[in-house]
Amino acid sequence: MSNDVIIKVENLKKYFGEVKAVNDISFNVYNGEVFGLLGPNGAGKTTTIKLLLGLLEPLEGDMSIFGLNPERDEVQIKRRVGYVSEEPLIFKSLTPKDLFSFIASIRGLDGEETSEKAKDYLESLEADEYYEQLIATLSHGNKQKIQIIAAILHEPDLLILDEPIAGLDAKSVKVVKEILDLHTKQGGAVLFSTHIMEIAQELCDRIGIINKGKLVGIGTIEELRQQSNKLGASLEEVFLRLTEQDASVDEIVKRLRASYKRKFKGETS
Ligand SMILES: Nc1ncnc2c1ncn2[C@@H]1O[C@H](COP(=O)(O)OP(=O)(O)O)[C@@H](O)[C@H]1O
Ligand SMILES: [Mg+2]
Repeated sequence: MSNDVIIKVENLKKYFGEVKAVNDISFNVYNGEVFGLLGPNGAGKTTTIKLLLGLLEPLEGDMSIFGLNPERDEVQIKRRVGYVSEEPLIFKSLTPKDLFSFIASIRGLDGEETSEKAKDYLESLEADEYYEQLIATLSHGNKQKIQIIAAILHEPDLLILDEPIAGLDAKSVKVVKEILDLHTKQGGAVLFSTHIMEIAQELCDRIGIINKGKLVGIGTIEELRQQSNKLGASLEEVFLRLTEQDASVDEIVKRLRASYKRKFKGETS
């Protein structure tokens, strides 16, 4: 892996009134890696991503993508980025075919080549039968597939995916993993957000664990285990330790067991 920094985030802050959505976050994403932001709903993942894309204005901190400033160089950055947003596709009255040809025209890509490429991706994600069907009528998972394809047609240097896998079946997750691997092998980078641990574990080279606007751990799974003093532990155990939820989970489990025991004894005696 080369060490070119693609994304640099330093002491980033964004508040919404009293809510500290992003509270002093720093991390880098390098060439050739899939970096995952893993955290529960409301942790600050989407806000971080929107700040990076220049869709929100930061309160404090420094950011750069390809050495460019997201607030100032939004257009230049967007040319080299493929983005899958958390919200479902907005072009619902189009078919995937229309959408891909629209993308080819706004991105200045060869129409024929782009549609061939899109069809290949559709086929590998087993969604080619929907090529000429209205996006509005597709299932959540199939909409996500279309969105992922739409984001990679122009061969961006950086892919930013905000919870793109939630609606996908296991087989499609494997194919998406393959697409991401091919992308990073060619020197591209991926920033990825998810609240699902298995997905983070399966897809990411490095993970940043985010909770309540703070980055509480960062590194490979092995490094995260070391940071949390949980050698040999599952990512779930590491996550609960780093987000300081393990004590309260232990407490809940203990209480449940005690009440179950009481109930069980009551029924048998
Ligand atoms: N536009 C907004 N206005 C007010 N609060 C917001 C807004 N966007 C996000 N938040 C709040 O900021 C926090 C982080 O949200 P978000 O970044 O969407 O989390 P995640 O993507 O990790 O689920 C949450 O408490 C959320 O309610
Ligand atoms: Mg989100």
